Amino acid sequence: MCGIVGFYGQPKDVLDTLMTGLYRLEYRGYDSAGVALLSNDNTIFKAKAVGKVAELENKLNSHTLPQFKGIGIAHTRWATHGEPNEDNAHPHFSFDGKVAVVHNGIIENYKLLKTNLEKEGVKFISSTDTEVIAHLVAKNYKDNLKQAVLDTLGMLEGAFALAIIHADEPNRLVGAKKGSPLLLGIADNEVVLASDVSAIINRTRDVIYLEDGELIDIIDGKFRISTFDDQDINKDITTVEWDNEQATKNGHEHFLIKEIMEQASSIVESTRGRLDLETGNTVFGGLLDVREVIKRINRVVLLGIGTSYYSCKLGELYFEELTGIPTKAEMTPEFKLKSNAIDENTWVIAVSQSGETFDTIAAVQEAKNKGALVTGIINTVGSTIARITDAGVYNHIGPEVSVASTKAFSSQAIILLMHAIYLGRMKKLSPTSGKTLIAAIQNLPELVEKTLQQNDNIKALAKKYHTNPDFFFIGTKYNYPIALEGALKLKEISCNIHAEGLSSGELKHGFIALIDDKRPSIAIAPHDSVYDKMCSGIQQIKARKGRVIGVLTSDNEDIIEELDDYIVVPQTDEHLQPILNNLVLQMFAYHCSCYNGFDVDKPRNLAKSVTVE
Ligand code: M6R
Repeated sequence: MCGIVGFYGQPKDVLDTLMTGLYRLEYRGYDSAGVALLSNDNTIFKAKAVGKVAELENKLNSHTLPQFKGIGIAHTRWATHGEPNEDNAHPHFSFDGKVAVVHNGIIENYKLLKTNLEKEGVKFISSTDTEVIAHLVAKNYKDNLKQAVLDTLGMLEGAFALAIIHADEPNRLVGAKKGSPLLLGIADNEVVLASDVSAIINRTRDVIYLEDGELIDIIDGKFRISTFDDQDINKDITTVEWDNEQATKNGHEHFLIKEIMEQASSIVESTRGRLDLETGNTVFGGLLDVREVIKRINRVVLLGIGTSYYSCKLGELYFEELTGIPTKAEMTPEFKLKSNAIDENTWVIAVSQSGETFDTIAAVQEAKNKGALVTGIINTVGSTIARITDAGVYNHIGPEVSVASTKAFSSQAIILLMHAIYLGRMKKLSPTSGKTLIAAIQNLPELVEKTLQQNDNIKALAKKYHTNPDFFFIGTKYNYPIALEGALKLKEISCNIHAEGLSSGELKHGFIALIDDKRPSIAIAPHDSVYDKMCSGIQQIKARKGRVIGVLTSDNEDIIEELDDYIVVPQTDEHLQPILNNLVLQMFAYHCSCYNGFDVDKPRNLAKSVTVE
């Protein structure tokens, strides 16, 4: 959480690059924002504002700004220590006003460090953990910022990505990484430090991903990367595949609807070159090195949280059915805390859009400690989980900017199905069944397009229902995880609608007590192997005067006469049907949020990438 940017380049570009970077990183936190830039008179100019980045921009626009040198740092915050106010907003400054720091992460021993500094007479302005870093760097500073930062890093426990400047060295920018993401974009006479690629993609596509324990020292546009023991490191430059357009709204009102509408093409990208119709199998270059290990595994564990956990719940069904191997989806904040019966014969697959989710990283480490094979299904190239897993597969869906995860879910679900086919073909899945599934996956993007054409009908439904305070989402078998995901999406972005996902079989075990005409249910009832069970659930709700919106695969079903409203989506293979059904729920949540007047892309209290515990 929190986004940081640091810039060294032309003075004319510094403020613009920092602000564009902040807007692009705003999904990481939007409680407050701030910048610090070196002015021509060798003092540090600062501006901070509570709220979104636009508030900071308004503030900057309402002042006469000094002439800047080409160096600055910036931050957008998701509060962990101290409420969102200007004192707690970054950058934080040292007691002498010469050091400015932006930080993503948590300094676990900050209380002790703070107490010691206070004993020495240092006055703290904020309630943050970060402020200790600024004071310590100033205290350790003699005439070399890098050395002062190195001396300070040894005193810090916890996680950090840092960008630091000093008024006495107006040609220098220092960054460091441990446990929180940090990369640098490199262009002509320009270096940009940032939490992720979206913040730099309008300047350059040449990137170096820093590893934990690495420090970057930029002087006059030349940079050196070293360990925290000051040993030089040579790093490869990676060319990012995304382009600038993918990180913008591209004509859509919100990133969320853009990302929902992108799903036909994102599924094409996630499956490209990975489907082999002739053999009825899937092909993953990223798993080649561990293929022999996969052959001998006898247990599968799927790790994720939030939307990524719900894709794992779907994956659990795919794996058990197609491979016959015991499989469990695990929610990572719980997994990392309990004793898990896994060993070197377990295949653990970590699923994460960002690749930076704190609990999922911790769960991966727990699985690695137990000797399991750990691979990833990750969207963000070069992210922590992508680096610490033994092998893995990227989603290749481009940046997902909106806080609510949409195109990542469909991609994760399809890649999990493809993993189940991969393992299934080593075990019990016949070539014929494999071919049927591969053909259905190849056909899916076209059906996704058709489903997305229902947008206007779904908008009309949202107009009718968006004032209801509670919703139930009901699904069974492959659509049970979709009911959970649909409820999460509505809760998350509507900000004022409570929703619960449940299996139709669960209704009469408690939920039915709440059914009345004010709490509508969305029943996911495609014509599949559990259609009859969904129909009885619908009838039980109707018998209690509940209103029901159906998600069906035909407008010729008897159950229609029981429904208050319904949406018809194309019918496909039962394994893939939930992906189409989920599109309806995504569009419904989006339109309810718009009607309720909330900030769809940045729901309150949330951040896209949850990098703290
Ligand atoms: O980046 P990850 O996939 O690891 O993120 C996991 C969750 O934080 C994420 O899916 C969250 O639940 C979404 N905001 C839901 O839309």
